[in-house]
Amino acid sequence: MPKPLQRRRPQAPGDDARLDLTELTLRTVRNSHSDDVDGLGRRDAEPLGEEAAGRPVELARDRLQREREVEALERSLYERLGGIEAITAVARAFEDRAAKDDRINQKFARTNLDRLTKEFVDQLCQDTGGPCTYMGLNMRQAHTNMGVTSGEWDAFIEDLVATLNDFNVGKAEQDELLDNVRPMRAEIVEVDSPQVGTPLPSAFTPAPPL
Ligand code: HEM
Repeated sequence: MPKPLQRRRPQAPGDDARLDLTELTLRTVRNSHSDDVDGLGRRDAEPLGEEAAGRPVELARDRLQREREVEALERSLYERLGGIEAITAVARAFEDRAAKDDRINQKFARTNLDRLTKEFVDQLCQDTGGPCTYMGLNMRQAHTNMGVTSGEWDAFIEDLVATLNDFNVGKAEQDELLDNVRPMRAEIVEVDSPQVGTPLPSAFTPAPPL
């Protein structure tokens, strides 16, 4: 039974503040453009006045623009990305790209790929405000003893951005997604080095199949 859409789960200090900012912006956009002049939902309760009466087309255009702004702020990133099908397609394409990228592919040498895809999709879906519950390992557990370097982190993010570009994901959505994943760096990168293509250490224990 799908759960109702949820707002993004707070991931890091500052996330609540970001959420508040979005709400505040939403309210500001609404208030600054409100037609609800008497607070009872009556639109255009006052005459437009001489100046406004001379510009009906501009007023209509402004109103449409404002409605679009409010709509854009109200829809979750999950919805704007295109829902579960789009997110699954992006996750799969990203994994294909990462598998071909010699800068990071050795890290996946012993990974159960069915599990990885499912967990990656669930995480993306939940973190963008979708109706999923991520049940996988936390980011520190999942990447412990993997020996991920800062250079490999950058390569991973580069591959993610390239995939989002392939799917024509807009700049605003990309930025929002990247803001979401960047705080995970501290839990994933173990080696402060620009080196890439480092092997998977034998100490790494892959997660079991689901
Ligand atoms: C934004 C950054 C990242 C996110 C959101 C992310 C997310 C995830 C998730 C959700 C899992 C599955 C956890 C589970 O099985 O329960 C996972 C596993 C894995 N990640 Fe990441 N990851 C990130 C960065 C990286 C980087 C930089 C690398 C390597 C260069 C990497 C390599 C792997 C590998 C190899 C696995 C499979 C581990 C296993 O076999 O158990 N990840 N990651």
